[in-house]
Amino acid sequence: MLKKLALVASIAIASASGAFAAGKTGEVTNFDFSFEGAFGTYDQAQLQRGLQVYTQICSACHGLQYVPIRTLSASDGPGMPEDQVRAYAEQNYEVYDEAIEDFRPATPVDHFPANNAVGAPDLSLMAKARAGFSGPYGLGINQFFKGMGGPEYIASLLAGYTGEEKEEAGTILYENKAFPGGWISMAPVFYGDDVEYADGTEATVEQQAQDVAAFLMWAAEPKMMARKQAGFVGVVFLTILSVLLYLTNKRIWAPVKARVKE
Ligand code: HEC
Repeated sequence: MLKKLALVASIAIASASGAFAAGKTGEVTNFDFSFEGAFGTYDQAQLQRGLQVYTQICSACHGLQYVPIRTLSASDGPGMPEDQVRAYAEQNYEVYDEAIEDFRPATPVDHFPANNAVGAPDLSLMAKARAGFSGPYGLGINQFFKGMGGPEYIASLLAGYTGEEKEEAGTILYENKAFPGGWISMAPVFYGDDVEYADGTEATVEQQAQDVAAFLMWAAEPKMMARKQAGFVGVVFLTILSVLLYLTNKRIWAPVKARVKE
């Protein structure tokens, strides 16, 4: 009986580790983002640079269909003045309007368009979808202990091309250190100075990668600051409540304790 159990257990362990080995996770760099930690906030200038990278490079293939354009003026987001947001929408996107049965320039009330041209995934929620899988065996340990998540993964992916490529079943695949499995069908997008930043920041590969990753984190979780604030208020409230309850408890039982001692 015992032998049988041991055998079953060892087979289970062996096959489980086999499955882990097959799902090779990529190398993710622990970049420092301004919004990490309990009190971290988005860096407005960085979000604006990230928007510029998304608009000039990523939007050619990727949509952002769940993000309303008007949120670009949010003060806890990119914080762009409303007239700039309107101009941005008009200049960059066209949407199909059912009322006039034709395309028209986008306005701030529209969402960023979807983009299915090359089958690239929508990026609206990507920073959250890829949040928890880095680290050994995809257990999310790095997220828990180091605060590494979706933005680190996206930045590592964009800066993680080795330059190798191969063709498989008619598709060209590019070697990438961060992509699970090591080969991705998205061609490298950054070579350095791919955009010219309005604020004069030097557009290195890693700078652009981090800026667009920060922007995509904001797109996926625009209310992160409000959530952190509510969390902090909650912790303070519970701490005060605990102290009061402790004192009340002592007081209620004090006469009984005094009697027991007699
Ligand atoms: C020329 C088209 C093209 C451009 C430009 C492009 N991508 Fe992609 N992207 C793709 C395709 C195709 C895939 C799907 C790749 C796959 O699954 O093998 C992809 C996948 C991704 C993924 C998902 C990877 C995963 O874990 O599944 C992310 C994140 C991403 N792109 C981010 C970006 C960002 C950010 C930019 C702009 C800096 C960008 N892409 C520009 C075509 C593009």
